[in-house]
Amino acid sequence: MLDTLNEIESTGLTELGAVADASSLESWRIAYIGTKGRMRGVMPMMKDVPKEQKGLVGKRLNEVKTTLEAAFETKQASLGDSGAPAQSGPMIDMTEPGMVESQNVGRRHIISRVRDELVEIFARMGFDVAQGPELEDDEHNFIKLNIPPAHPARDPIDNFYIDNPNEVTTPRMLRSQTSTVQIRTMSKLVVAGQEPPIKIVSPGRVYRPDTVDATHSFMFHQIEGLYVARGVSMADLKTTLLQFAHAYFGDDAEIRLRPSFFPFTEPSAEFDMMIALKPGEDPKWIELGGCGMVDPNVLSACGLDPEEWTGFAFGFGIERIAMGKYGIPDIRMLFENDVRFLQRV
Ligand code: DAH
Repeated sequence: MLDTLNEIESTGLTELGAVADASSLESWRIAYIGTKGRMRGVMPMMKDVPKEQKGLVGKRLNEVKTTLEAAFETKQASLGDSGAPAQSGPMIDMTEPGMVESQNVGRRHIISRVRDELVEIFARMGFDVAQGPELEDDEHNFIKLNIPPAHPARDPIDNFYIDNPNEVTTPRMLRSQTSTVQIRTMSKLVVAGQEPPIKIVSPGRVYRPDTVDATHSFMFHQIEGLYVARGVSMADLKTTLLQFAHAYFGDDAEIRLRPSFFPFTEPSAEFDMMIALKPGEDPKWIELGGCGMVDPNVLSACGLDPEEWTGFAFGFGIERIAMGKYGIPDIRMLFENDVRFLQRV
């Protein structure tokens, strides 16, 4: 073994002496001190060395290894820049700042940002976030929301059904409203043997086969709110909406509730805010969504006694709010992914 080590050392050094460029230096490194090189190759021979010589041979092995490594480093240094492994072409300084063009930093989409801003405001008012699936069924999108079988809202023309609604009793569909999450949240609580208060908001996507224009899209986002407890009143609803409007649009924001009808609330109202949609334009009343007191039928359908519990609910279009807040005149701009627009908002 000692002979082999001596041989590796002398041939190694001789060959290294002849090395004149980076690529032959690299080949040398691989052949001698690389992980599959000759130094590694002799290691297994150690086990055949008689016990009393192990110390001596081991020491020599280390010496040769250190010698070859040191010689390699000296050689590398002497070759200078050209000694860097396999470097061809001009040197690249990794510490240089990048080109100006490549410094555009990505950002989250305006809808994601507005959604998080809304959630944050409602969180400050004590609302938790609840989620529900986008693929829903008849039971959650309609039945338990007090929307009876013959109701026009169930028309296949107005919904994306996955199953044929004429053939199955609870067809699946892409949810048309986030009100589904009210049902899921209340039912889950009852099944778990718990009681209200429930105070949640649920942001998410909804789908309707609307023709796309400046204010309609086949997919958009809503944020649903639900507060159920003892003695919740319409005054609590209006206070919550006013506080929200002030927190998000400033203390001057004006709100208006207009009597309306939704199957799942009684009484029901449309929620408007005074907003300028285009910068510089006079503000006008914009409808942000619906709201009302949870219909007793909805509470019962979820297993809550309407004699004991009352609640309010609301559902707003997130695009509408984003457009109002950021002066975006056309909903299509939100989904076209035009970088010039995305950089501006
Ligand atoms: N789900 C309704 C829609 O999509 C909006 C809505 C109205 C939600 C009244 C509510 C509510 O929670 O109380 O048009």
